[in-house]
Amino acid sequence: MNMINQINKVGIIGSGTMGIGIAQVAATSGCTVNLFDTSNEAIDKAKRSLENILDRLIEKERINTEEKNRIQANINYVNSIKDLKDSDLTIEAIVENLDIKKKVFSDLESYVSKDCIIASNTSSLSIASLASSLKHSDRCIGIHFFNPAPLMKLVEVIPAIQTSETVIKRSIETLEDWGKVVAVAKDTPGFIVNRVARPYYGESLRIYEEGIADFATIDGAMKTIGGFRMGPFELMDFIGNDVNYTVTETVFKAFYYDSRYKPSFTQKRMSEAGYLGRKTGKGYYNYDEKGKIISNENENSHNTDLSQTIFNRVLVMLINEAADALFLNIATSEDIDNAMTKGVNYPKGLLAWANEKGIDWCVDKMDELYDEYHEDRYRCSPLLRKMKKENKKFF
Ligand SMILES: NC(=O)c1ccc[n+]([C@@H]2O[C@H](COP(=O)([O-])OP(=O)(O)OC[C@H]3O[C@@H](n4cnc5c(N)ncnc54)[C@H](O)[C@@H]3O)[C@@H](O)[C@H]2O)c1
Repeated sequence: MNMINQINKVGIIGSGTMGIGIAQVAATSGCTVNLFDTSNEAIDKAKRSLENILDRLIEKERINTEEKNRIQANINYVNSIKDLKDSDLTIEAIVENLDIKKKVFSDLESYVSKDCIIASNTSSLSIASLASSLKHSDRCIGIHFFNPAPLMKLVEVIPAIQTSETVIKRSIETLEDWGKVVAVAKDTPGFIVNRVARPYYGESLRIYEEGIADFATIDGAMKTIGGFRMGPFELMDFIGNDVNYTVTETVFKAFYYDSRYKPSFTQKRMSEAGYLGRKTGKGYYNYDEKGKIISNENENSHNTDLSQTIFNRVLVMLINEAADALFLNIATSEDIDNAMTKGVNYPKGLLAWANEKGIDWCVDKMDELYDEYHEDRYRCSPLLRKMKKENKKFF
């Protein structure tokens, strides 16, 4: 704990799903948290949700009552942005809207000290653009937690082109002090996780649309052969088809319509029909009141050649995306692999997986797909091709 300018006081803006989770993380580590929301209802809900979570942790004997009281006492719920004035670090977790976030940032800057870091938990907006709303844009940084923030180890740190080295260093040190694994990402659409994970959904939807297999078979292949905890369709139902579709569309537009990120009509129609997944009781699967899938009669045996073909195709598209992120210096190879295992629970890092499968295998599989479809979507990353030629491996 011998940091220069240690972060003790944390201001959080927005007490929704992410805000309260981040507050719990900071308060558990001993920081004083001021949690601000414009809605009293949202604040009440956040208080109740934290109380429930801490009670469950007591039941599981992960914390005791004293610890619960300490965490709760570290959090003040405030209803004016002015109450964040003493913060060393502020993290904004409000609605995903650039104009609203910019307005909140410039308001906030008029109250906080010159050394206060102003961070955003945005999943998709440009940090450079958010930073431009500040007089001192070098204090702005992206600090992207995953849901649920207290459980997911990964935090992506996204410096904008304006961000100072000191702010980057202080942010990383603080998050590590809070027990998080940090992956530093370039300020580009989807950062690491929301970019590299796109083919898990996109290629699975494409396989379904081509009539190669049904949802349950594709999910079964990814779980049984790949060891993924949830199949792509289960996961889309879990995230919500509306939310997942919007992320895909945002990433697609932000990449100037690169066909690799093209959204799917299947998902668009599901979203339009209100078949959003678990939260509406119907998505790719039907759900009971407890959110459990009502058993699917189409469940196939998963050890067939078809399952292997499906798994290989989705995996190689994921590997290709991870390799291309490395090729374009979005993050280091270690951070790319950590991001997928610690942010979205992938069973293995994708670059490590590429080593295991063999770089030749990856290039050949991508070329087979390209030869079959002649679509730019299936272009092999130049990095993989170069590595094959030079007989190299990742790491
Ligand atoms: N939910 C996720 O899985 C997830 C994961 C990572 C990042 N994010 C990002 O985190 C941010 C918050 O997402 P969320 O899911 O927690 O949203 P949420 O809807 O659960 O909560 C947002 C809260 O912000 C409050 N709010 C809105 N405008 C405000 C303002 N001007 N000032 C103060 N409070 C205001 C709302 O009352 C609400 O309580 C978004 O930028 C989102 O993209 C979400």
